[in-house]
This record gives sequence, structure tokens and C-alpha cells, in this order.
Amino acid sequence: MRKLVTAVSESCGALRMDRPGVLEVTEALELGPGISRLVLDGSLDFEPGQFAMVWVPGVDEIPLSLVGGSPLELLVQAVGDATEAVRSLSAGDRLGIRGPYGSGFEVRGGRSLLLGGGIGVAPLIPLARRVAEFDAAVGAGTADLLVGVEELGAEVATDDGSAGFHGLVTELVEEKDFDKYDEVYCCGPEVMMRAVLDMCLEGGVEGQFSLERYMKCGVGLCGSCCMDPGGERVCVEGPVFSSGGLVGTEFGSYVRDGAGRRHRL
Ligand code: FES
Repeated sequence: MRKLVTAVSESCGALRMDRPGVLEVTEALELGPGISRLVLDGSLDFEPGQFAMVWVPGVDEIPLSLVGGSPLELLVQAVGDATEAVRSLSAGDRLGIRGPYGSGFEVRGGRSLLLGGGIGVAPLIPLARRVAEFDAAVGAGTADLLVGVEELGAEVATDDGSAGFHGLVTELVEEKDFDKYDEVYCCGPEVMMRAVLDMCLEGGVEGQFSLERYMKCGVGLCGSCCMDPGGERVCVEGPVFSSGGLVGTEFGSYVRDGAGRRHRL
């Protein structure tokens, strides 16, 4: 097994996979309403697309994409109690981190398109440092919810037209010559990614998609993140899947909550 952690805060000792190492927030940047970027006093060796389990004592533990490794950086949008607890942390506050977990993006040659929706831009930021030749497009509901635009040099789409193209990022991309790309890397709301998957299949373009699923353990033990019908564990076999790995699965149709109930997308 490869070494997972290269360096960590001296205050916490070596991070371990089976329990969180405690790191301190050194910088908390508010990027938009409910969206923060946290810089921590530790480092982590990871592949773009991998995630960490982030623990806020007394609240919960949640998976978050890793944005930077040295120093360790996280991007979070408040959508519930745990994400709000992480988002509201300030410099000097502490949180637990374990990981990295899962499979990251496989970086290939050729011309690539990076497509992000909302906070889904997070894993594309470190990926952009590894991909030689790419275009990028980012979408969000409104201009103040756009993230990572400058780092990706991305074209922009907003639902309300407050910045860039007025409409969905998939509609923006449909106007491009889609099949000129060799690889599409995508992360965002699953309905958006499902539309991109269909475009990849129709255009004969390879695609890689980073999924978000409810996770409890993050290490393949609890089954809370499994996809129907094959039982692929998003925390181990994913969160990044190729187009072929998603065809015929529940992807784009429904997700499960913490109680295992199905919710249509
Ligand atoms: S989160 Fe437990 S198996 Fe994936």
C-alpha cells in the first residue's frame, strides 16, 4: 500500500487512516454566500479527485474533496449542519482529517475539457495543475456562487444570466465542438453530470466523473455509498468513475440518504 500522508502538523503527529489527525485552520476565506476555502497547517499527498473525511467534534464527519495538498486546502459549501460547521470555522479553529481516500482522476494526454458545476469545481482545481492542454467551463445558479473561475481560466454560465452565458453549463458546452476533445473531466450536480455523460457517449468522447454520495465510513466497510445495481462503493471504487463504469447504474436517476432511502434526482 502506498504511503498516504507525507507530512502533517507537528501538533497532531502522523495522520492515520483509522482515526483523524487534528489540524488547525490557518486561513478561512469566504468565497461566496455559504462557501469557504480553508487552509490548514498540514500537508497531504493526494491525487486530484480523492477526498478526505473531515470531522467536526460534536457535529459529524463528512467527505470533502481535496483542493490543495501543501498546505492542505478544502472547499466547502454549507448545505447542512456538518458542512455549515466546517464552513464557519475561523483561523485558529481545529478539525479532524483522515485520508486521502478513493480513486482520483486518471490524467491522460490529448485535449481535455474540464467541466464544473457549483462547488463541484473543487477536485478540478488540483487536476488543472496536472493536465497539459485543456479548456474549462464552470456553471452556477448565480454569479456569486461561481468558484474556481480564475484558477481554471474557465468560461462561465449562470442560471440567471448574472455572469457569462445565460443558462446551464451543459448548454454552453453544447455550443462547442464537443467531439474535438479527447477527455472530459466533470464534477458537479449529478443531473448535470448525467447530461455530460450522455454527450460523451453520443460524441464518442472519454469521460471521467467525480460522484458525491452519502458516506459514513469512507473506507468501504459500511455500504452506505454503494450504487445499484452492482454495489460499487463510491468511496473505494470511486468517487471518480469512467463513462463505462456508470452506464447501467443508478447514476443520474436517484441517490440514497443516511437512512438508505432512495431519492429521485
Ligand atoms: S462510505 Fe462506507 S462503504 Fe463507502
